[in-house]
Amino acid sequence: MNAMRSHNCGQVNESLIDQVVTVAGWAHRRRDHGGVIFIDLRDASGLLQVVIDPDAVEAFALAETVRNEHVLQITARVRPRPEGTTNSDLPTGMVEVYATNIEVLNRADPIPFQLDEEDVSEAVRLRYRYLDLRREQMQKIFRLRSGVTKYFRDFLEAQNFVDIETPILTKSTPEGARDYLVPSRVHAGDFFALPQSPQLFKQLLMVAGFERYYQIARCFRDEDLRADRQPEFTQLDIETSFMNEEEIMNMMETMIRGLFKAKLDVDLVAEFPRMTYADAIEQYGIDRPDLRIPLTLVSVTDLMQDSSFKVFSAPANADDGRVAALKVPAGCEKLSRKEIDSYTDYVGNYGARGLAYIKVNDVSAGRDGLQSPIVKNLSDEALAGVIERTGAQSGDLIFFGADSAKVVNDSLAALRVKLGHDLDLIEGEWAPMWVVDFPMFERDEDNGRWSSLHHPFTAPKVDQLEKMKTNPGDVLSRAYDLVLNGTEMGGGSIRIHQLDVQKSAFEALGIDDEEAEEKFGFLLDALRFGAPPHGGIAFGIDRIIAMMSKVDSIREVIAFPKTQKASCLLTDAPSDVDKTQLRDLHIRLSPAAQAAKAEQSAEAVAE
Ligand code: AMO
Ligand code: AMP
Repeated sequence: MNAMRSHNCGQVNESLIDQVVTVAGWAHRRRDHGGVIFIDLRDASGLLQVVIDPDAVEAFALAETVRNEHVLQITARVRPRPEGTTNSDLPTGMVEVYATNIEVLNRADPIPFQLDEEDVSEAVRLRYRYLDLRREQMQKIFRLRSGVTKYFRDFLEAQNFVDIETPILTKSTPEGARDYLVPSRVHAGDFFALPQSPQLFKQLLMVAGFERYYQIARCFRDEDLRADRQPEFTQLDIETSFMNEEEIMNMMETMIRGLFKAKLDVDLVAEFPRMTYADAIEQYGIDRPDLRIPLTLVSVTDLMQDSSFKVFSAPANADDGRVAALKVPAGCEKLSRKEIDSYTDYVGNYGARGLAYIKVNDVSAGRDGLQSPIVKNLSDEALAGVIERTGAQSGDLIFFGADSAKVVNDSLAALRVKLGHDLDLIEGEWAPMWVVDFPMFERDEDNGRWSSLHHPFTAPKVDQLEKMKTNPGDVLSRAYDLVLNGTEMGGGSIRIHQLDVQKSAFEALGIDDEEAEEKFGFLLDALRFGAPPHGGIAFGIDRIIAMMSKVDSIREVIAFPKTQKASCLLTDAPSDVDKTQLRDLHIRLSPAAQAAKAEQSAEAVAE
């Protein structure tokens, strides 16, 4: 095969019996068995059992000094394993090799954790990520990841998409997060921003006439981190010209369906269901519902307006209030009082001030069949209405949220998912869907201004241009999100390609001409020179791989991820830089920053 080895470990099988092979890899495990030493040798292709007999005097003496993770080159004869010692789980499990010569190519200090250890802390794993990545499951994830990006490239290249790189040192590309900034040495006091996405460049590539662009693009966002968010992450970024949203969604659906078939042998539904944003919020409280969970929110706001129970009637009569019910089938049996209390605490995390419930003991007995501290406060009509709308049966339990629509939606959406998992209600394995008809704008709670629900370059529905000026809150956009099992996998839209429409959108966002020119002048210029109608989408590759690998966090599928605190435990970045470097960059740390740094290093010493 090459100078160092004749075969990969994983290739050695019965077809090579009696042949002499040279293999190289890591000592995965060494076992001494009554005078005979066994070494499981591991390389990227798999494991191979090596036997070293005291008769092979030199090899045996060396084998006695071998520790886990030493790097070895072994020459050996292939032979069948003795009866009763074969291992059908391993591709090499029918054979072993009898070593005649061992070279230690490199030694390894005792490693901080064993590769098959289960409960290694994430901090230790990340500190020694190169060891963590030696584990079989990690190797599998990154091979899958590589296969997935290859699949995407093959699919898109076959459809005439062109892979084009866009700058990393650039100007702010707003996607709703803070920018990572890079100071310029040459231009004192000026900064580059790292791209939150290639959004504006891909639009310019459409103006440039490429018609179909893609890129596996690194994006940078300084935002609150969660299990599905990293400060730098990878998108499959796509843009097309002369295609409408139907055509784009259909093509992307074909791509994702093909991916799941090719890599997981999974048949996703023939047509991904589509749901409007308004319906998603109404029925699930969230714009990325997990459709595997068969529970829905049911509005009962109108039924509670005349109630004497203030907890319900106040939000029922408020402009932005909502009262909603969430029915849990057979919940009376499944949920104890204690569990209900713990769910009350849980929704508290989302701002809910309580979690009313009704146990439906006997649905045919009217009010007497219902058990709950709140039943006495509700009229017969309200109770009958709740039972009818939720379709409750005897034994069911109904939870209620009553507050601002936002609090009710957030808390019941989270409760729905939690109940789905806790009560094992999940149906089916994969539930992809499109969410469409998003509002263009949402009100920013902090400053009362309108902000874009997607980004400011998203096109409004064609018949709604006028409303952008008068009722921005009512304008729907031509955006679409792909949701899988309650996670947003991708999102995109048809873009604004007309200068005047882009200007109106900026206006609605409170961005005046001067600011628009300063921030996006280059885009506005480009729109003057024959920009074609265009649109696209970006998928979160990390999220797709995490889902396909069934791991909880995208940190598992990024080779060298950051922690929740946006630092790298392996390299210790971000870190101090030389004073002269700072001076060259025209930067001086404020006294507050210096004090914070001193405090951090004191803490580090204490730890
Ligand atoms: P959006 O902001 O929705 O759209 O991003 C697209 C997809 O990228 C993934 N994603 C992330 N993954 C990991 N960590 C993060 N911090 C993170 N943020 C987003 C999600 C998301 O669906 N330019 C537009 C796309 C377009 O309009 O074409 C954009 O970036 O899976
Ligand atoms: P109280 O009148 O505060 O004793 O509440 C009666 C019931 O209503 C309790 O089960 C509370 O958990 C519940 N509750 C209180 N506030 C809310 C709310 N905003 N939404 C839903 N249930 C609530």
